[in-house]
Amino acid sequence: MSHLLSHLKGQDVNIQQTLLKDYKPHDFKITNVSLEFELDPTITLVTSELKIERINKKSSSLFLQGEELGLKSIFLNGRALNPSEYEISEKGLKIKSIEFDYFNLKTVCEISPKANLALEGLYLSGDILCTQNEPEGFRRITYFIDRPDNMSVYEVKLIANKKEYPYLLANGNCIDKGDLPHGKHWTKWQDPFPKPSYLFALVAGDLGLIEDHFVTRSGRKVLLQIFCEHGQEERCKFAMLSLKRAMTWDEERFNLEYDLDQYMIVSVGSFNAGAMENKGLNIFNSALVLAEQKTATDGDYLAIESVIAHEYFHNWTGNRVTCRDWFQLTLKEGLTVFRDQEFSADMNSKYVQRIQEVRQLKEAQYPEDASPMSHPIRPESYVQINNFYTSTVYDKGAEVIRMIHTFVGEQGFQKGMKKYFELYDGQAVTTEDFLNAMKLANSHFDLNQFKNWYAQNGTPTVSVSGKYNKSEHMYELSYQQQNLNSVHKLPLLIPFKIGFIDESGKEFKPKITTEGQAYWDENVVALKDWEGVIKFSNVVSNPVLSINRSLSAPVHLKTETNLDQDLHLLKYDSNHFNRYEIGQKIISDWILDSATKYSIKNLDVKSNSKSDDKSEIKVDSKITNAFLEIIKDESIDNHMKSLLLSVPTDAVIHQRQKPIDFVNTKKARDSYSYQIAIALESHFLNTYESLKDSTRGGFESEKVGSRALKNLCLSYLARLGEKYKKLVFEHYKTSDNMTDQFASIQVINMFFEKDSSDVNQEFYNHWRKDDLVLQKWLTTQTLSSNENLFDQVYKLKALPEFNQSVPNFVRSLWGSFARNLSMFHHESGKGYDILANEIIELDGINRSMAAALAKTYRIKTSVSDKNKALMDKALRKIKQKEDISNNLLEVVEQILNS
Ligand code: ARG
Ligand code: ZN
Repeated sequence: MSHLLSHLKGQDVNIQQTLLKDYKPHDFKITNVSLEFELDPTITLVTSELKIERINKKSSSLFLQGEELGLKSIFLNGRALNPSEYEISEKGLKIKSIEFDYFNLKTVCEISPKANLALEGLYLSGDILCTQNEPEGFRRITYFIDRPDNMSVYEVKLIANKKEYPYLLANGNCIDKGDLPHGKHWTKWQDPFPKPSYLFALVAGDLGLIEDHFVTRSGRKVLLQIFCEHGQEERCKFAMLSLKRAMTWDEERFNLEYDLDQYMIVSVGSFNAGAMENKGLNIFNSALVLAEQKTATDGDYLAIESVIAHEYFHNWTGNRVTCRDWFQLTLKEGLTVFRDQEFSADMNSKYVQRIQEVRQLKEAQYPEDASPMSHPIRPESYVQINNFYTSTVYDKGAEVIRMIHTFVGEQGFQKGMKKYFELYDGQAVTTEDFLNAMKLANSHFDLNQFKNWYAQNGTPTVSVSGKYNKSEHMYELSYQQQNLNSVHKLPLLIPFKIGFIDESGKEFKPKITTEGQAYWDENVVALKDWEGVIKFSNVVSNPVLSINRSLSAPVHLKTETNLDQDLHLLKYDSNHFNRYEIGQKIISDWILDSATKYSIKNLDVKSNSKSDDKSEIKVDSKITNAFLEIIKDESIDNHMKSLLLSVPTDAVIHQRQKPIDFVNTKKARDSYSYQIAIALESHFLNTYESLKDSTRGGFESEKVGSRALKNLCLSYLARLGEKYKKLVFEHYKTSDNMTDQFASIQVINMFFEKDSSDVNQEFYNHWRKDDLVLQKWLTTQTLSSNENLFDQVYKLKALPEFNQSVPNFVRSLWGSFARNLSMFHHESGKGYDILANEIIELDGINRSMAAALAKTYRIKTSVSDKNKALMDKALRKIKQKEDISNNLLEVVEQILNS
């Protein structure tokens, strides 16, 4: 079942790997579960009665997973087992010999929610008792076959003190409740749908609540409840609205209806992830539920809308049909991310939504896939499945589903989904099963080759070049695919959406003459081989091609175009996503080129004071003019405009640099932004002024877009220094919403650092009692490019409100510190060392958070040798930690050995 990691052989660590190829069905099945909880933060008593069936008649012993459980008693078919009949280890409970094919196993265990800082299983968030069981938390509640292919029907009784825990919630429908002596009460819950243990949840607490109803298409009335800390009810309203929209949308687009009488969401402050789709009882990180305009930014609102929808959509894609094993995680996550993305695209602007998705993909997933942690969306081995809740499984997983959608079209896709539920409802299945359903519903879809996307890691590079034959009106598009990072290396089936744009900027559609291109009706060509040529006729003028439109495939695109052709697309492409992409490419090209020039110069003349001149290398006026045209163009909506005018992040630019030059890239990026600010100054100012008043209040998409553009203008103007200081500080003072306030405090901390202390202090004083806003503020306190930052982070950590056992605090301080790339990668190695010390401390508190932070070092393979050595030093320090967790060790080993 498991063995040592090969590169760890001979070392004194013993971390076990689980392999996909070792999967086999379990010898036993738990069909019915009856749980009773006597809830108390210090000691909770869990009585579990399991109905178990022997599936493999040859098997006599039964192993149940269980960790940190205090077993009080154990009965098999009503008879107390004596200690010689079972064995208890760190990992679980083994009953040595069972003579029945159907039997009942009763255990009573003690657990301590209060001592559970890992936040897996039953734990305390503030005063609220809650659970997180995906992937393997349930084994910290009771002994169980804790794997997703064991689906059981649950009945749950919760008992607790009524005053402290007036609400006692579990999955399914509440079927009974009552009072008990000594101020206690109880509730009983039944979930009619068989489910794996990772979907089990309970919540007990003194909670605030808002309620609403939803009538499903078939006329069933569903009670909707969102629970929160008292006093936060108002802030739950947007989440409720989002939930109702998601329910309607899933009926309309996917023909899927909700299946219980009740749907509950609980907001908690301490949560390792974003949210969890427990059947009928979602538990959410409060940051993804609570919003009002004075505390939440527009970005927060959009995130709430999408995650509320995501968890709701899991009810079908994840819960009704679940995963056979954790290698199949993308089966539910990739598909559900795709569904929530489509929902957001239907609720908001299609292109803006797609741009945000691809930004996330390129800033998180592409770097992951280029790192030592690269893995296929369906991995073949893991040590800690907790480390595999990755952008690859989620976001690349969603891109893979999107490619299927592109190939088979919306109708074909919906037919495939219908087939999927027809075949697999109520089962735990694999990604092959999903593909099988898609194939059965779409006979022309080439499944065999498409499968490679599931098994291969790495971001492929597709290089294209075009040849125009003027006299024949022919065009040949040559392509080549390459996947440097992949282990298997088979050519992928890649859908490329393409547009032809003529010299006057008009789009036209030629005929395709290459055989077997079945998708050209939809403007899609299929790249099937390592290299090939696709031929077009009726091409009446030399075109510029808009390629991989809306990122139809998650690849790096390499073209041989020149600046003029790129600018032509920036000006004319009717696909606004590609317009954005080509703009980002033009800017990145300039920044990369200038960074190289800076680095050569620095080598030439060391301390040249002139090298500080921000406009030392001039941005081509063709480029500044192109962006000038964009800001003046009234046909482009404001949100889109703000994206077109934005500068790619360092993290995206660095992907084209080896080794990464953090300092000179930042310098070039700053120089570019400064020159654009100068060239477009009056337009930025006019746009800013014209939007100032219309952007107050309201979350309508027009206002969101206008605020985005206004704040982009602000950030450019702030680069011009003193001249705009007053405007920036006025903006902060007069803003009536968090979007504006947050944008200005960021700008103040970046460009007016020495005048920033009053604003920072004032913000802190005002919001220190409000964790979510305070956490936001913390992210603005790590933006400095000054070495003071290394002391500053410790001052922030020492704030009385800072709480290391709350993941949101850890993410907002240490996560954002690590995103300050030029400081984290500082030549002194201080950034690496500071983070290493925090990780070591955190591993003793919350191992999955520690492992997540340690992934920051995965960029090691792309940095200079000097930085590599400094990173290794920090990693070795972490590795030496006594009692290091498996979660952290897996990450550290993988990076150290690369
Ligand atoms: N299934 C949850 C979701 O995607 C996330 C669970 C995260 N769990 C974890 N161990 N990181 O909505
Ligand atoms: Zn999910």
